[in-house]
Amino acid sequence: MNIFFNEEDLSWIDKLAEQDYLIIDDFFNEKELIEIDTLFNYQIEDEKLIKAGVGAINYKIVDDVRGDFIYWLNESRDTTFINFFNRIKEITYLLNRYCYLSISGNEFHLALYPKGAFYTKHIDQFKDRKNRLISIIFYLNENWKPGDGGELKIYKEQEIIVPPIYNRLVMFKSDSIEHEVLVTNVNRKSITGWLLYQPAGLGFLS
Ligand code: OGA
Ligand code: NI
Repeated sequence: MNIFFNEEDLSWIDKLAEQDYLIIDDFFNEKELIEIDTLFNYQIEDEKLIKAGVGAINYKIVDDVRGDFIYWLNESRDTTFINFFNRIKEITYLLNRYCYLSISGNEFHLALYPKGAFYTKHIDQFKDRKNRLISIIFYLNENWKPGDGGELKIYKEQEIIVPPIYNRLVMFKSDSIEHEVLVTNVNRKSITGWLLYQPAGLGFLS
């Protein structure tokens, strides 16, 4: 479903507005997908991913909250990720235009959850930095199968379990949707990020 190339079909925007979350499968075409996955694997091989923490200003490593390893992408440094960022810009443009949001920046990281890792229930909006509007997660787990774990659990009236399958994109409202990552039994890769009301500044690097 390559909906983002088509400004005539904006049903995905209605759906996001209605449910506060949205799942889109087959997000990238085959060529872009393989390219992005390969770039991700290079970063792992180069040992660029480091243990993730919690909080914006008081950033702490808390093993019993989250167990993933991350690499913050910087669009001007990590220029090879241009196709990824172009799609994010397309989403941003359409949300600003048709949802009257004021998104003016983004922050994205690669995330690797090793076997046994998880992320307990939380919302993505920080207490001390409230500029995250929309959360976006793109999964790169080829051949994911039931039993591999690492599902995203979204807390709505009814809980929604989202398998982190290859080429799936999930979006949700950062300030209201509670969610967690269930224990993964295999390495689990995603590109996770946020569309921001204001640019991040240096908060996330500290
Ligand atoms: C996060 C998060 C969910 C996922 O990084 O804040 O909730 O499915 N990730 O990776
Ligand atoms: Ni989250």
